[in-house]
Amino acid sequence: MTLQEELSATVGELVQAGKGILAADESHPTIAKRFNAVGVESSEEKRREYRSLIFSTSGLGEFISGVILFEETLGQTSLDNQRIPELLAKQGIVPGIKVDKGKKPLINAPGDEITVGLDGLEDRLEIYRNQGARFAKWRDVFHISDTLPSPQAVEANAEVLARYAAICQSVGIVPIVEPEVLIDGNHTIERCAEVSEAVLREVFHALYRHKVELEQMILKPSMVTPGKDNPKATPEEVAQATIGVFRRAVPAAVPGICFLSGGQTPEEATANLNAMNAMGAQPWELSFSYGRALQEPAQKAWAGNLENGPAAQEALLKRARLNGAARNGSYAPDMEG
Ligand code: 13P
Repeated sequence: MTLQEELSATVGELVQAGKGILAADESHPTIAKRFNAVGVESSEEKRREYRSLIFSTSGLGEFISGVILFEETLGQTSLDNQRIPELLAKQGIVPGIKVDKGKKPLINAPGDEITVGLDGLEDRLEIYRNQGARFAKWRDVFHISDTLPSPQAVEANAEVLARYAAICQSVGIVPIVEPEVLIDGNHTIERCAEVSEAVLREVFHALYRHKVELEQMILKPSMVTPGKDNPKATPEEVAQATIGVFRRAVPAAVPGICFLSGGQTPEEATANLNAMNAMGAQPWELSFSYGRALQEPAQKAWAGNLENGPAAQEALLKRARLNGAARNGSYAPDMEG
C-alpha cells in the first residue's frame, strides 16, 4: 500500500457508520484527577489494569472504531499479556496515539495558551507507527472571555496544529486535528459560536498553507454551547448553533467530524450528537471522540476493584452503544433505561 492508500484506509475505518472513537489518552495528571474522583490512586499498574479492562470489553468494536492511547499505554500489555495495540486490533479497533506535549502559557498573550510538541515529532511518529499506531491526536485549547482568545493565540495554535497534521500525513499517520474551544466561563452560546467560527476558519487556512489533505484527516472540535456557568442550551439549540458554524467554516472535503465531550455529562453529549444527526444529511460524518462522556460511568463502576470489571465493561458498552445510535439520530433518552 502507498502512504496515500494507508491514510485513506485508516480514515475509512475510523468514520464507519454507527461507530466513533474512544479517547483514553489522558496524561498522567489528568488520569490521576479522574481516578481520584472514584477513590483510586493513579499508578502505572492501576492505569494498566483499568485501560486493559475497558479495552477488553466484549463487543466494543461494534460501536468503537478507534481508541486514542497515551504513550505509556501503547507500550503496555493487557492483563492477559497481549500488547495493547494488538488487543485493540483483534477487537477491530484502530489504535491511535496522542502526540502533543501539552500546553504552556503563550508569551505576551496573558490568559492564552499554546500547545507544544513539534520538536522531534517525526522521529516519535516513526516509533509509534512501529508500535502499531495508525492515527494521532493533537489538541489546541482556546479560552473564551470578552477579550480571549487573542488573535495571536488563534494564529499560533492554528499554525502548530497544521504543521503537526502535515508531518503525520507525510509518514502515513492520519491526523486528528483538535481545536478545543473551552466550555469554562459564563459566555453565551452566541459568543461561543463567534469564537468557534474564528478558530475553525484560521485552522483551515493554516491547513491549506501547509498543504494538508483535508480528505485524509479528521476534525475533533468542541460543540457550540453556552459557557458552563450559564444555563444549558437544549440539544436542538446546540445542534442548530454547531451545524450553523460548521457549515460556514468546515470544508465538505473533511470526511469526519468527531466531537469531544469537553465536560458535558454522558447523557448530554449523546443527546447533543443525536440532535445534530437528526437534522439530516450534512457534508461530513458527525461522530464522537469522547473521553469523559464514554468513560465516567465505567470508572465509577470499576472504582479500582478488578472484581467490578464486568460492571465497568457493561457501563462502557452502554455509552458506546447509545452514542452509536446518536450517529444516525436514533437515540432517545428512554433508551438510558
Ligand atoms: P473529553 O471528551 O473528555 O473532552 O476528552 C476528549 C479529548 O480527547 C480531549 O482531548
